[in-house]
Amino acid sequence: MNKIRAKDIENLDYNQLIGVVRETNRPPGGKNSVFEVVNRLHLSKDSKILEIGTSTGFTSIEVSRLVKCPITSIDINETSLKEAKNRAMGEGYTNIDYVKANVNSLPFDNESFNVVIVGNVFSLLTNKTKALEECMRVCKKDGFIVAIPMYYVKIPSEELVKKVSNAIKTNIIPMYKSDWIKFFTVPELEIYWAKDFKFDYIEDDVVKSFTVKIMNRPHLKSMDMGVFIKLKRKYEKYVFLFRDNLSQVGYTIFILSKKKIWEDPELYTSKEI
Ligand SMILES: C[S@@+](CC[C@H](N)C(=O)[O-])C[C@H]1O[C@@H](n2cnc3c(N)ncnc32)[C@H](O)[C@@H]1O
Repeated sequence: MNKIRAKDIENLDYNQLIGVVRETNRPPGGKNSVFEVVNRLHLSKDSKILEIGTSTGFTSIEVSRLVKCPITSIDINETSLKEAKNRAMGEGYTNIDYVKANVNSLPFDNESFNVVIVGNVFSLLTNKTKALEECMRVCKKDGFIVAIPMYYVKIPSEELVKKVSNAIKTNIIPMYKSDWIKFFTVPELEIYWAKDFKFDYIEDDVVKSFTVKIMNRPHLKSMDMGVFIKLKRKYEKYVFLFRDNLSQVGYTIFILSKKKIWEDPELYTSKEI
């Protein structure tokens, strides 16, 4: 950790920064989303799960708390994976296998998993279609893909989109809920169940005390003071930026079924009241 230089910090994107400060990186909705998915899909100890973009391991650990099934969690970021492994080991979960891999080329056989959980990872990818194809390939024929993509609930300013794009080093094209429905509407998949949410606006003082708490982590104490100050400034700037961004964002828990059962289209659709 004390090997990090000021120059390295300038180049870190938001996801790498999270790995360095070891922030808990959740899927949208955190525990609530994981609980909903585990229960809706009746996951059991026999369910084989693949999690894409685990970051620091939140989803894999929360699933394990509820059901001790075999989980393989992948990410391209080694620093985050290392932290995920430490956290899972600390909790005593030996059912999770953390693997460095790219969702665009998954190192698994066809139809290996009952459920593939993608959280909010499609949003970050330039080749979303390839990633979805890979998820479908490794999912068993009667399995499910869970995606929890975020989207704007109102049109964002160009300036905001530019800043967030720079922070995550991805050229963001603003997506809306209808775009995700279109994306998941492919012959091999069916939107089986979905539920919508919107992020709260988090006040400045709450954001500030959160960043202070994170930056007080023991593993950051050994850093050179100049480097630490740079890291703290960059982290705080990003947290405020994401607060502003997320206050205009919603997300949907999509459970997508891979199995296609022949049936007539549903005419008498309904909504929860
Ligand atoms: C926003 S975090 C995900 C947080 C949470 N696990 C979730 O599911 O929403 C995105 C993660 O996806 C990883 N990621 C980005 N591109 C990837 C790729 N091509 N293959 C695998 N992981 C990727 C990033 O390194 C990062 O840890």
